[in-house]
Amino acid sequence: MAPLPKGFLSESLGRIQPSQTIAVTQKARELKAAGRDVIGLGAGEPDFDTPDNIKEAAIAAIRRGETKYTAVEGIPELRKAVAAKFKRENGLDYAPSQIFVAAGGKAIIYNALMATLNPGDEVICVAPYWVSYPDIVALAGAKPVIVEAKFENGFRLTPEQLDAAITPKTKWLILNQPSNPTGACYSAAQLKALADVLLKHPQVWVLTDDIYEHLVYGDFKFATIAAVEPNLYERTLTMNGVSKAYAMTGWRVGFCGCAEPLVKAMAKLQSQSVSHATSISQWASVEALNGPQDFIPVRKKAFEERRDLVVSMLNQATGIECPKPEGAFYVYPSIRGLIGKTAPSGQVIKTDEDFAGALLEGEGVAVVHGAAFGLSPFFRISYATSNSLLEEACRRIQRFTAGLK
Ligand SMILES: Cc1ncc(COP(=O)(O)O)c(C=O)c1O
Repeated sequence: MAPLPKGFLSESLGRIQPSQTIAVTQKARELKAAGRDVIGLGAGEPDFDTPDNIKEAAIAAIRRGETKYTAVEGIPELRKAVAAKFKRENGLDYAPSQIFVAAGGKAIIYNALMATLNPGDEVICVAPYWVSYPDIVALAGAKPVIVEAKFENGFRLTPEQLDAAITPKTKWLILNQPSNPTGACYSAAQLKALADVLLKHPQVWVLTDDIYEHLVYGDFKFATIAAVEPNLYERTLTMNGVSKAYAMTGWRVGFCGCAEPLVKAMAKLQSQSVSHATSISQWASVEALNGPQDFIPVRKKAFEERRDLVVSMLNQATGIECPKPEGAFYVYPSIRGLIGKTAPSGQVIKTDEDFAGALLEGEGVAVVHGAAFGLSPFFRISYATSNSLLEEACRRIQRFTAGLK
């Protein structure tokens, strides 16, 4: 097929990268299809199925004929269920008119940033970051300001770093915890310390991505910034969704609570793109939020056991140092001890991308290299897969690192 004419694609498209986590998952899929024995630890989705009561609610919605266009902001039943969720679980008061629903948590972030950013605006993204934040900011024509959260600080942004990164042009701080890719969380006290900095800078809004809220382990208590510091409530967008907690990644429903004029702005934008999240998925999400929640702690326990297994086995691998995160289903081990070593194939491991490539080639384990998340030399493992596969993958990683010279 002929290439597209020169200048046909938009300049804004040229500013962004395709999602590298999706690329790794795709590569693993292709190798598997070609007959290779590959364990994919790249994908960020729970291996559990959507609970039956949620599926049944969707089937019932189809049978009732809930198959037509809905309000752009979301069906009133879901906006009410989301408002109740924020009150019940987070102590946050949002009226249903302050709730906005979109086709996934990603679409909430996309709408919020696209509706508010102008060229010259700055958005603080904490590295290692979820891959989409800087790219969406760049697509909007604004500038992602990357602040590196250090391994030594548990991959958390410090108040001093935040203060130093803010300029008169800063429009948003994007916070994400439990974090993808590190699993790091912030205690209420740590959030309060960040909030104290933000109180000094009234031009900065906060987009908090709480999508892994329900996946926190041990006695760690999840907190969200607008509840910790009510003086920030007016300028905080609290984002969440059903994808991770309810194992509903494919249903595409995310939501947020924020100032009503911002809901209206996002609705204006969404009315000229996808219109609204799928009617059936919205009804399924009403059931997810209002229905039984008792499977959440059971799944959480399974994730916690997997975290402990992976952290323990990776720390037994030569040259790998793996912190034990409080949440999400990721670990982000350091490979500082392996840089400069040579793989049996003769390849020298100069970067974390080399490491991930050589590991996939040598042992058939697909992980995502740290550079994709803006902090090297690390890699990310998603442990949302069975214990037996995780054990096998970690054994292969141990064998691979032991074989490096
Ligand atoms: C930190 C973070 N935010 C948002 C999302 C997007 O979620 P959704 O599938 O609901 O768009 C993900 C999904 O991987 C994520 O890891």
